[in-house]
Amino acid sequence: MRYSVMILLLSAAVLIGASMTGANYRDIFGKEFLTKPWAGGQVKESVCISCHTSDIIKPEYRDIPQEWKQSWHYQNNVSCKDCHGGDPDDAEAAMSPERGFIGTPDYAEIPQVCGRCHIGILKNYLESGHGRALKASKTGPNCVTCHGSHNIQKASIKIINEARCSRCHSYERAKVMKQALFLTEKKIRDIDEDLKRLKRAGVFTDEEDKTLFRTHVEYRTLFHTVNVELVKKSTDKFAKKLGLIEDKIDKTFRELEFRRNFSAFFMMLFTVMGIVVFMLSRTYKD
Ligand code: HEC
Ligand code: HEC
Ligand code: HEC
Ligand code: HEC
Ligand code: HEC
Repeated sequence: MRYSVMILLLSAAVLIGASMTGANYRDIFGKEFLTKPWAGGQVKESVCISCHTSDIIKPEYRDIPQEWKQSWHYQNNVSCKDCHGGDPDDAEAAMSPERGFIGTPDYAEIPQVCGRCHIGILKNYLESGHGRALKASKTGPNCVTCHGSHNIQKASIKIINEARCSRCHSYERAKVMKQALFLTEKKIRDIDEDLKRLKRAGVFTDEEDKTLFRTHVEYRTLFHTVNVELVKKSTDKFAKKLGLIEDKIDKTFRELEFRRNFSAFFMMLFTVMGIVVFMLSRTYKD
């Protein structure tokens, strides 16, 4: 009896410990499998893809479907026809203008193609130095200059680098922009990490996740203004919004710490009591 109580206490302690440190199975599974291109299956094969991987296509175009399958768009069901138009179910008429096929968009038309879905970004872009320069003289970069067209990945400030941003003007301009974005981006990443830790500790963080996500989306459209002054000015506003989430997280961490100390204390108390009971019973027997 005594032993089984001790064993029960011990295994409870082990279980509690494991659930505090063990990562959420679904998170791991998602990270390992669901974001890999070959997890696939959401986008059904279309006639565009089967024909465009066949021999009748020029070798330099033949890799396009494969590139696209590595992309974030593929993961999110954005397919050939979403950018090029056409009919992905009808091999005969797939590329006919009557079915909305637009072919390869011209350099200056690309923002409109992408902007059908990325509406807020298109607006900021069109009002920016880049958008104005594209319209006036085709000298500004379009969406594809910075994101590519088929293998588009999740965006981050890593896109701002010397090779890409010094093609048309000095890198200095781009660098100030990157510096202005850097601190807020870092803060967002830190909060994200903290939320993951809390989730692993079994804390429900849905509301904070949503607020952080919304704030991040809003923040990330800012870049497309390429207005360094605006970004600097907005930094305070975003710091305040993020600060509110940070305060909540800190409070939760403190509560967790308290609960942990509290349960550790009881665990110790029980163990000591167990030992005392054990010793006492020995004394009586002897
Ligand atoms: C039966 C074969 C076939 C089908 C089906 C097909 N394509 Fe094509 N596509 C071609 C060929 C051939 C070319 C010419 C490329 C070349 O010269 O190798 C081409 C060219 C293109 C081009 C670039 C040329 C241009 O007009 O600017 C795009 C973009 C394109 N296809 C998209 C699509 C999309 C989107 C679909 C599905 C809605 C599709 N294709 C379906 C065979 C096909
Ligand atoms: C997110 C939008 C988007 C999707 C999805 C997309 N394309 Fe494109 N595609 C473009 C843009 C923009 C261009 C022109 C810029 C460039 O060449 O990179 C282009 C160019 C092309 C070209 C001409 C390449 C050249 O060098 O002139 C072909 C062929 C093509 N796409 C086929 C496809 C096929 C097939 C699919 C589906 C497997 C597909 N695209 C999916 C945006 C897209
Ligand atoms: C001069 C380079 C450049 C051009 C041009 C550009 N982008 Fe971006 N884009 C970026 C950078 C850098 C980020 C990441 C910003 C960040 O993380 O703060 C980004 C982020 C994004 C995001 C993710 C942000 C979010 O809110 O989800 C999308 C979507 C996007 N761009 C689409 C577009 C579209 C559409 C166009 C054309 C209208 C475009 N971009 C033009 C560099 C560019
Ligand atoms: C049919 C709608 C559609 C079109 C057209 C489209 N996109 Fe997207 N795009 C999406 C969706 C849906 C996502 C995934 C959700 C998200 O991450 O915002 C996405 C994600 C992205 C991302 C990653 C955003 C992130 O979270 O970091 C970038 C960058 C991007 N798109 C750029 C482009 C560019 C450049 C074009 C044009 C060549 C384009 N998109 C055309 C719907 C579209
Ligand atoms: C295809 C050419 C091209 C590329 C590539 C390019 N830019 Fe630009 N950029 C321009 C043009 C054109 C202007 C507007 C005219 C000017 O002010 O020189 C401009 C202006 C700017 C400005 C000043 C905007 C203002 O309103 O004062 C910033 C900041 C900037 N670019 C950042 C970047 C960053 C960051 C990148 C890389 C992610 C980049 N650019 C890549 C062509 C380019």
